[in-house]
Amino acid sequence: MTDQISSVSAPTTMDKVIDRLRARSLQTGGARQMYEKTIAGLDGPRVRFTDGTNPLMLATYDYLGLLDDERINQAVKDAVDTFGTGGHGSRVWGATLTLHRRLEQEIAEWVGTEAALVFASGFVTNFSVIASLAGPGDWLLSDQRNHASIVDGCAAAKSAGAVVKVYRHNDAAHLEELLTQAPPDAARVVVTDGVFSMDGNLVDLPGIAETCRRRGALLFLDEAHSLGVIGPHGGGTPDHYGLPNAADLVMGTLSKSIPASGGFVAGRHDLIEALRFTTRAYVYTGAPSPPNTAAALAAIRLVRQEGDQRRARLRRNLDRLLHRVRQEGLRTTDTGSAIVPVILGENAVAIEVSRLCQEQGLFVLAAVPPLVPAGTARLRLNVTAAQSLDDIDRTVDIIAAAVRRVGAGSLVAT
Ligand SMILES: Cc1ncc(COP(=O)(O)O)c(C=O)c1O
Repeated sequence: MTDQISSVSAPTTMDKVIDRLRARSLQTGGARQMYEKTIAGLDGPRVRFTDGTNPLMLATYDYLGLLDDERINQAVKDAVDTFGTGGHGSRVWGATLTLHRRLEQEIAEWVGTEAALVFASGFVTNFSVIASLAGPGDWLLSDQRNHASIVDGCAAAKSAGAVVKVYRHNDAAHLEELLTQAPPDAARVVVTDGVFSMDGNLVDLPGIAETCRRRGALLFLDEAHSLGVIGPHGGGTPDHYGLPNAADLVMGTLSKSIPASGGFVAGRHDLIEALRFTTRAYVYTGAPSPPNTAAALAAIRLVRQEGDQRRARLRRNLDRLLHRVRQEGLRTTDTGSAIVPVILGENAVAIEVSRLCQEQGLFVLAAVPPLVPAGTARLRLNVTAAQSLDDIDRTVDIIAAAVRRVGAGSLVAT
């Protein structure tokens, strides 16, 4: 009898798993449906949701306005006609296509390296390449604010015996101090974002790269938000700082400025070829599909041909947005990228402001913990070349009105 009662009331393993997952979830305060609205179609810089609304999109990352470009769409159709739709096996097991070879070659040319290697996503690229780079006893040093995929890659390397150290955000002196503690025979790998995705600020590349050089460390640079976007030629943070060879490995994604999905690393030929047959997310998974690979290839060609004009429009929009945000007294960061945070503080405030904005035809989302530290919830606005100046003005008008309506007098900068 007693046994029966306790077996009814005791939490099952399933209950425990679900409780633990819930405790780690995005703190959306019951507004989860706002984060996963379903898109039924595209309409220039706007989206059509299944609920019939048609808002201006400020949450996703089509920085160069290439999404739904008819030339990219046509390249996808051609690839399907030639290769069908599926990856049909691993790259190292009979599924490497001419498209994959061309994509890797053109990524290397674009980034200015000898070779490149493509993966199924940017997350997987960071996770698996970082885990490959640092073996037992090697030292892996990671910026405090690096992306989750880097954090998880470091954890994987650590579980395989690497020593992982986290240095203070963008602090080259702290990095140097940690590097001096590494045993002389340990390989050292430093990993940093080029653009930190929650604040939009840039890596201190001169400081970090010089420290790596002095201490014999290899530098892995995540350019997910920077390639094609940052720098006079769109060459990312190395281009911005005029340091073209600052990083040993450059990582990028095919899911932001490039309207496809996937990720890549680019670097020296011998390093890339060594990674090709060792990185588990390359060997033990299906090859990127023909339509996706063709989309990425066509988009990279367009970025290389039309990048200057697209970046000029993006710059114009960004300047206007920053000017208007500051004029309205909204608090932002020292962003150097196309990500413009509007810091609002408490989760509930940021969620309510984003809800009001969505009501007014502006799709923005609140970044809440664990994406950002508690008490710094924010809207993250992503500017694109596809938006007009009117779109930008309307964006700021709507946000400023929503902030005032939520009564967030203390939210504006003093
Ligand atoms: C800095 C950074 N690195 C890597 C990734 C992962 O890229 P992907 O979306 O292609 O998986 C992201 C995506 O959010 C990112 O912001």
